[in-house]
Amino acid sequence: MPVDIAVVGSCNLDLVVNVEHIPLVGQTVLGGDLQQIPGGKGANQAVAAARLGKSVAMVGRVGDDENGTFLQTILEENGVNTEYLLRTASIPTGVALIAVQSDGDNVIVVSPGANSELSPEDVMDALPILEAKMVLLQAEIPIETVLSAARVAKGTVIWNPAPAPEETIPLELLDLVDVLIPNQRELELLTGIGTINSLEKIIETVKTLPCSSTIVTLGAQGAVVMANNEAVHIPAPEISPIDTTAAGDSFCAAIAESLVDGKDLVEAAQWAVQVGAATTLAAGAQPSLPTSEEVAQRLKNG
Ligand code: RIB
Repeated sequence: MPVDIAVVGSCNLDLVVNVEHIPLVGQTVLGGDLQQIPGGKGANQAVAAARLGKSVAMVGRVGDDENGTFLQTILEENGVNTEYLLRTASIPTGVALIAVQSDGDNVIVVSPGANSELSPEDVMDALPILEAKMVLLQAEIPIETVLSAARVAKGTVIWNPAPAPEETIPLELLDLVDVLIPNQRELELLTGIGTINSLEKIIETVKTLPCSSTIVTLGAQGAVVMANNEAVHIPAPEISPIDTTAAGDSFCAAIAESLVDGKDLVEAAQWAVQVGAATTLAAGAQPSLPTSEEVAQRLKNG
């Protein structure tokens, strides 16, 4: 039976330390106890969409090691189909080093490991990608693999270009993407346009992209939806975040979930800003991803 959403992307073990302040270059700081948490933008988006009630398959690669088994088990416990989660014998599972400071902001360094072995051939025949209503992509796997998945997808292609790829993006990929979801920084890097620091500039920049629809996430400022040459700003709920890790991931999952349900992009973004905000009210990547009921509860209490 085809799934609602196929996620093609990364699985990482997050090594997380809470710190008072993120260190400056050359500075050493002492933090709290080390936590080992399931993460990776791809796996986070898969788990988030499953917790929001959709059927989901994860297409990716982990190492043939304990961390890979741990990440696969967590995906399965959340009801995510892992038939196309492949193992790479010679390379370890991806790892992310994360420091979270007291206001919830973070810095992340990813060692991609097996994620970088997910090849165009791995994805071009993967049934969930061919059959799913939505195909959700990020940028922690090789760009040619993202392109290959976008080429074979029959459903709506959603691309969250995070982290912003260093290499030039093939124009064909932007053409194949139905909904692009960058944050402000990713939009800057993707377009090569300098600092984008106003709503007007965001709108002007998005208009230069060939994608049919774009949603730019703005953190505490919400999001801007650009579709049919019209821009709509969606404000975010006012909250005091604990940990912003994976807020962008649950936002993307909520967009895919809403589009499966037939909502339009503005309705989808109105829900997604709430899901993203609720995610920041709990700690850790996958542990923080809310169900639909938890979104309302957390925002009421937070
Ligand atoms: O978006 C958050 C994720 O980015 C973390 O879980 C980490 O693994 C990195 O991929």
